[in-house]
Amino acid sequence: MGVDVVQIRRRGWGETMRRDAWWIQPAIVFLILSSFLVYATWAAFQNAHYEYGNYLSPFYSPLLFGDSASAWFGPKPLRWPALLPFSPALIILPFPAGFRFTCYYYRGAYYKAFWADPPSCTVGEPRKGYRGERSFPLIIQNIHRYFLYFALIFLIFLGHDAWKSMWFTDEVGKTHFGIGLGTLLLTANVILLGGYTFGCHSLRHLVGGYLDRLSRNPVRKTAYACASCFNRVHMRWAWCSLFMVAFCDIYVRMLSMGVWTDPRLF
Ligand code: FES
Repeated sequence: MGVDVVQIRRRGWGETMRRDAWWIQPAIVFLILSSFLVYATWAAFQNAHYEYGNYLSPFYSPLLFGDSASAWFGPKPLRWPALLPFSPALIILPFPAGFRFTCYYYRGAYYKAFWADPPSCTVGEPRKGYRGERSFPLIIQNIHRYFLYFALIFLIFLGHDAWKSMWFTDEVGKTHFGIGLGTLLLTANVILLGGYTFGCHSLRHLVGGYLDRLSRNPVRKTAYACASCFNRVHMRWAWCSLFMVAFCDIYVRMLSMGVWTDPRLF
């Protein structure tokens, strides 16, 4: 019986048999992530308009140092490098940024969007070799689990900020409970970040098992099921939380600059 020999040819960059608009998704990811990076970097260097009454921008939380009366350790540290402009956000943002940057979902998205590795499924790449994440530099992505620990701690701070945003001080200095639009936004922010963090792949492994098998402990099995439930829509949590954290900063900034006013529900 004769055998047909099929020659496999490596596709050139962008070459594909797909007929759908495969490039739209990476283009949108590129646009959104680039815009977020530019805005977050700009906002982090501002060192201004990050607070309004009982609202604190999540980009600046926890507020370790700064001119604000609520800064934990007072003003700018004495040893701050003279060449680097001071901003409290620069001290803390590397942790949430590192968490997102090394996230398994975002990796898949920005490898396609930023360096076409590959541009999309079954679309030719602009390179011949593949070194993967087992060699430098991408092996560094394995640090994700450690960023997760910080992300869990940050959730506590952001939860506390949401709680603080429910307590308003009136003209005579009396504090009372209330809900403003800012309260809703800061609360939604911690809920969305919680949904994103609790669906982390590393968290599933951490709570649910060992290196090569799942735990039989009922508590750990339940925790694994919960984390898996969040994980099923990890992509949605990732994008919604990204939008919300940026919008919370914009909202507090606009209030602080006097451009917007905060509607109070009660
Ligand atoms: Fe996305 Fe860990 S995998 S946050």
